[in-house]
Amino acid sequence: MARAEWGSRLGFILAAAGSAVGLGAIWKFPYVAAQNGGGAFLLIFLVIVFTLGISLMIAEMSVGASTKKSPVGAYRKLGGKWWSSVGYIGVLCGFLILSFYSVVGGWTIAYIVKSIQGSILTTDPAVLSRTFDSFIADPVMPIWYHAAFMALTAGVILAGVQKGIERVSKHLMVMLFLLILILIARGLTLHGALDGVVTFLYPDFSKVTPTMIIEAMGLAFFSMSLGMGCMITYGSYASGETSIPNSARSVIGLTTLICFLSGLMVFPAIFVFNFNPLAGPGLTFITMPAVFSQMSGGQFFSILFFFLLFVAALTSSVSLMEVVVSFFIDEFQFPRMMTTVIMSILMFILGIGASLSLGVWKNYTLFGKNLFGLLDYVSSNLIMPFGGIMIAILVGWKAWPVISARLAYPDGTCPVWLPLFKFICRFVAPVLIFVILLQNL
Ligand code: PHE
Repeated sequence: MARAEWGSRLGFILAAAGSAVGLGAIWKFPYVAAQNGGGAFLLIFLVIVFTLGISLMIAEMSVGASTKKSPVGAYRKLGGKWWSSVGYIGVLCGFLILSFYSVVGGWTIAYIVKSIQGSILTTDPAVLSRTFDSFIADPVMPIWYHAAFMALTAGVILAGVQKGIERVSKHLMVMLFLLILILIARGLTLHGALDGVVTFLYPDFSKVTPTMIIEAMGLAFFSMSLGMGCMITYGSYASGETSIPNSARSVIGLTTLICFLSGLMVFPAIFVFNFNPLAGPGLTFITMPAVFSQMSGGQFFSILFFFLLFVAALTSSVSLMEVVVSFFIDEFQFPRMMTTVIMSILMFILGIGASLSLGVWKNYTLFGKNLFGLLDYVSSNLIMPFGGIMIAILVGWKAWPVISARLAYPDGTCPVWLPLFKFICRFVAPVLIFVILLQNL
């Protein structure tokens, strides 16, 4: 059977952007930026995204597009037998991420329900924090929502590449974008908003630490879906005429924009309503309802926001599951249906542990982190950067002839930036990522 391809060039970009834009940009970015003090973190994040991020995005997409294979097969084809293990690690990474990602995806569903009930429309920071904290610490409800989110993800996967992923991601992202703009406008006109904007934008370099740099790098990998083969998988569905650099640029640009806007949306609210900026994973969930409560039609906006956040999360979780599932299909010819069901159940089980680690199991820690934090840390800050080093080495050294041919224009001439890209892949990316990783150990 011929490999499925995207319905259109735009379909490919939108689906790749659908993978990238998700909880990373809207849920994780604001709280990690807040934990790291704002401005300086933002700047480091942007520098990493526009040097490493864009290069690795082009690298991953072109590896997929030139091999037409998912990560394991792609690494094997371009690098040889030994390299396929990098692909295995990527599949494992997808598995680990989706297990806790689905828990947070479940929170978005729960918050749709809470919005409908109207129970969260208040500006009282104490009430909002308590609502969130007691919800995630509950041993039962979050797990039901987690199950629902995982089942929906599996449902989209079973509908197939084209129909499933492409259709879901198209229209709603535009709506999400517009809604974020509206929420920023509302937030900025509240008294005290400026403090939030200043904190978010003003770089205080005295706050820069090695931890902050690795957090910024991990966040860049996570929110751009890099370093674990996801963009290899999506690139493998791109048709021959698709311009990889343009697609990569669009995806990086769009995702970065959403990260930035999410910061502008959340930071003012922290200061206006006196929330704790170190609230951690609850930050977006805790602060935004306060903004809704200050809007006419607040309940409507609240429902809409968490619904669109849910959809953004779903298009990302679908891409994570696609990496895991397509591995078993391509490598072992497993049936799609069975693989999807079994993997979903396994990830669901690991996710139960992650969810409980925020409540009844919170005293079980390793390296000072509960299971939820550990899954996040290991995947974003260790495995994905490692994957980034490997893809850069593969593209810059081993597979350069193949990759540079795929990146050349149809008439055979090379883009002017190609030597720079090669230099980044060969030297800058591997060395830089390695040094950042080392600093942390
Ligand atoms: N980038 C996604 C998000 O920000 C998460 C993700 C990571 C998706 C890795 C696929 C691969 O929500």
